[in-house]
Amino acid sequence: MTADPTWNGVALDAATALALLDWQREMGVDEPMLDAPVDRFAEPLRDPAAAAVAALAPAATQPVRAEVPLGTAGAGPGGLFDGDDLPRQAAMLAARATTLADLAAAQQGFDGLDIRKGARSFVFADGIPGARVLVLGEAPGEEEDRQGRPFVGRAGQLLDQMFAAIGLSRTAPDPDAALYILNVLPWRPPGNRRPEPAEIDAMLPFVARHIDLAAPQVVVLMGNAAAQAGLGQQGILRLRGQWGTAFGRPALPMTHPAYLLRNPIAKREAWADLLSLKARLGADQPAQP
Ligand code: URA
Repeated sequence: MTADPTWNGVALDAATALALLDWQREMGVDEPMLDAPVDRFAEPLRDPAAAAVAALAPAATQPVRAEVPLGTAGAGPGGLFDGDDLPRQAAMLAARATTLADLAAAQQGFDGLDIRKGARSFVFADGIPGARVLVLGEAPGEEEDRQGRPFVGRAGQLLDQMFAAIGLSRTAPDPDAALYILNVLPWRPPGNRRPEPAEIDAMLPFVARHIDLAAPQVVVLMGNAAAQAGLGQQGILRLRGQWGTAFGRPALPMTHPAYLLRNPIAKREAWADLLSLKARLGADQPAQP
């Protein structure tokens, strides 16, 4: 039998070691530490989304606050926005974007939110721009942060299965069968905490412009953060399944796949919502000649 390991000179039995690990995960620790600190800001871009955006716009990685002339009528003293007027600053940057590539560059460079500093990747979108159905999620998790694509962890796998069941997929080349997927926040909040209302407000102009440019026929609001962004309301268990209008388009609030993983019983209602989406798409289908 081997002796228990020690931690700071104290013997660690298995139960205590597991409790310590759990505690660290709850605090948001998801990577083992190296012996020496690593300056992630000095590393070259390596996630696919950031690299793609950088290829589209060489200035995409530069913070915009100091470089973009923001002085217009109504701006703060000296023609610049107040540092904390983030939604207005975001609105002005988003309004200037005339393509998704422009928007990605502007949003990636927006340095108003602290979560940007702690995230590994800028997670812009996945799927087919121009798809009839756009899914708006909450924020990248651990796996999304690692890969630079939205909904690629466990919840994302369930999301893919849910939409495949009604004939929709993020890889379908036909826009009628395709999905376009983005999140309210493009950076992972530390420890996967929920987005804060101020973070949602600051990103809202980018999300609204993103949806304009992707031009879907309907929007699916996945979970509370998306419902807050699209409808200005929370309470997804009450809102789900009721069609409304968000970002000027028909919108269907649904329970988030992460919730469904924790509460499989709720999959029945999610299935009813998917059938409602399918019926809506069928009803809106242009008549065949
Ligand atoms: N949950 C989300 O809302 N978005 C993701 O991209 C992943 C998990």
